[in-house]
Amino acid sequence: MKTIEYADVVADLSWGDTGKGKITSALVKKNSYDFVCRWAGGNNAGHTVFLNGKRYKTHLIPSGVFHGVRSIIGPACVVNRDALLKELEYLKENGFDPSLVKVSPRAHMVTAIHINEDKKKLAKKLGTTSKGIAPCYADKMARSGWLAKDLLPKELLWDEKLYGKVLCEGAQGFYLDIDYGNYPYVTSSTTLPYGACSLGIPPQKIRKIYGTCKVYDTRSGVDPLFPKTLLDDPELSELGELGKEYGVTTGRRRIVNWLNLDMMLNAAKISGATDIVFNKADILKKFGKYKLYYQDELREFAEWDEFTSYISDQIVDNRGLINNVRFSGHAEEI
Ligand code: IMP
Ligand code: MG
Repeated sequence: MKTIEYADVVADLSWGDTGKGKITSALVKKNSYDFVCRWAGGNNAGHTVFLNGKRYKTHLIPSGVFHGVRSIIGPACVVNRDALLKELEYLKENGFDPSLVKVSPRAHMVTAIHINEDKKKLAKKLGTTSKGIAPCYADKMARSGWLAKDLLPKELLWDEKLYGKVLCEGAQGFYLDIDYGNYPYVTSSTTLPYGACSLGIPPQKIRKIYGTCKVYDTRSGVDPLFPKTLLDDPELSELGELGKEYGVTTGRRRIVNWLNLDMMLNAAKISGATDIVFNKADILKKFGKYKLYYQDELREFAEWDEFTSYISDQIVDNRGLINNVRFSGHAEEI
């Protein structure tokens, strides 16, 4: 029997939208993964991948598929059949191989009833993406849901074999996790890296955990930690425009705030991040103002280098498992 050699994990250390798709692409190009897998959520996610000068977007399918790697939607994911078929069609139209995508027979299916309930009861109150995520997971836990094996054609189902080198691509973010987020302003799945084990990966097989964040924070949806008044802050809204901070899935304007380093370090510690990638470095450099919260105090820096060395110093002080920190631009193709 072929066994799993190791699994690398890409997980977001904040509220989503930190460039996991980009990091995944870079890792897939560098390493010869046998599988790229998603372990949580559904088409509430939005992944952007830049390839050969073109921008591709997916919601449900792991972005490894753009590099010809088998792409698995895991048992703890929730699947909207129409959204899945649409994305498979999108792959085909753009010259990618849709047959690489397989869905766990154990994944739960999102139905029209779930979507209606989400729109009616939750969308406004909690700022959900209206994709039926919470009602679908509620049915799963109540043991009254529909499984992929009952509703999807056989050829789309995964044979549940996983071996060799595996990359697990997270969705959403640490502070959207059902247990670690600011409940109830969360999503309904496990976004922390340990959730990747639900794919059938023994925990000791996890090699690296790439934690992603941005050099400033953003929040898509409702959250008292990101009061709406921030939208009226001239400096922060200018930064949001410069960074094109609009949701890939909903098109909503994201609420922007300065990096909360305390929260990021907490997320890195609990996630067990071994590597940290800060994205949108180019945007903040262009903006030319450098601020962050540390120990609940807003601190300002005159220069980019001063800002990044401060961050690196705090990471070293709070080291844990982290052995690599990188600041990366948003627009470059990788
Ligand atoms: P739901 O997952 O649609 O139920 O939404 C719950 C919360 O998570 C809302 O605040 C959403 O805006 C947020 N959310 C869900 N998926 C993503 C994502 O991929 N990026 C950023 N925020 C997300
Ligand atoms: Mg995203």
